[in-house]
Amino acid sequence: MLLTGIWKLSQFEAHARGGQVKKPIAYSLLRHASEGPVGRALFECVIRDLQLSSGVVRTTYANRFTDVNELVLAVLKRDYTPAYPIEAHDWAASDCLASYEFATVLFEAFPRSTLTASDISFQLICARNASTQEEFVFEDNGRALQYVKPPFVLPLARPAPRFRVVNQILRRRAIGRARKVACVVRPWLKECPESISTGEWEISRVSLIHPVALAALAREPRFRTAIHSVFSPLSAEVDLIRTMNIFNRCYFSDEEIARGAAAVFRSLRPGGLWIAGRTTEERRVVQNCVTVYCKDPGRFRQVAELNGGCDIADIVAALDPAGLAAAGQMAGRKL
Ligand SMILES: C[S@@+](CC[C@H](N)C(=O)[O-])C[C@H]1O[C@@H](n2cnc3c(N)ncnc32)[C@H](O)[C@@H]1O
Repeated sequence: MLLTGIWKLSQFEAHARGGQVKKPIAYSLLRHASEGPVGRALFECVIRDLQLSSGVVRTTYANRFTDVNELVLAVLKRDYTPAYPIEAHDWAASDCLASYEFATVLFEAFPRSTLTASDISFQLICARNASTQEEFVFEDNGRALQYVKPPFVLPLARPAPRFRVVNQILRRRAIGRARKVACVVRPWLKECPESISTGEWEISRVSLIHPVALAALAREPRFRTAIHSVFSPLSAEVDLIRTMNIFNRCYFSDEEIARGAAAVFRSLRPGGLWIAGRTTEERRVVQNCVTVYCKDPGRFRQVAELNGGCDIADIVAALDPAGLAAAGQMAGRKL
């Protein structure tokens, strides 16, 4: 009837030694993430469990896009000399690890390039009450994601499992309380210091960037992050935009995906490349299904594909050429 969770580092270490961690894990443990093996395993375990209130997950993992990177590099080498400073963006980058892997091969072939990994958020905000030992975790848009009251760790953005009656009751109560705590947290959502005390609540932030990518950001100026929504055009045109596992029909309507595709179009310079794709898994076979598009006047033209291409080709083909041409001119005027 009860499902307890993991809220202490020592518990995580004990569970990890025994194999896969199957219990809910407190997101605030992300403050112990590091480049070391335990810190890295902890980070990846939390990210696997993390689902945003929008329903979008942040799942990603190392070496998942080796074939995509090879395909893209082959196209780039055909079109550009090594001295060309390619400006590349990886939209909806999640923990930025796959972006960093792409940056590594890109910088090797095109040393003057830059890669910007962007997402709508790279942090969570935690509010902890030391006297009651309660903790609420919020997205930085203010939506509550998790409630921790040892020994319970309760997701708030998705239902408690069936038959876990105590979890269901605690979760319902926590949702009511989360609204009040959200008011305390609100002023700190966008610009939260490492940690700050406000009355009974200690507010702190934890990073959603993979520790390996975080270390790379500190030492490699060509690799950057930015907060950006896939529905907004960039303020200046770039050479390449990758959108992996974001323009999915399970997340967005066809109209929204078309809006996102138009934002990509506006953000690319003429001849720029869009890498659109999705990772599929069927009968344990994992595949990256990707299409590489080139920005032509008023349309996207397919230039390469992997494993049959992306599954939004019909939406891309149906984009209104007049709208895209106007979008192209608008983007041009901004420069
Ligand atoms: C499944 S992950 C994809 C990660 C990575 N691209 C990959 O394929 O490994 C989806 C990501 O999209 C981000 N996201 C959701 N809505 C977004 C939006 N409107 N703009 C930018 N990123 C968004 C989420 O925060 C999450 O990190």
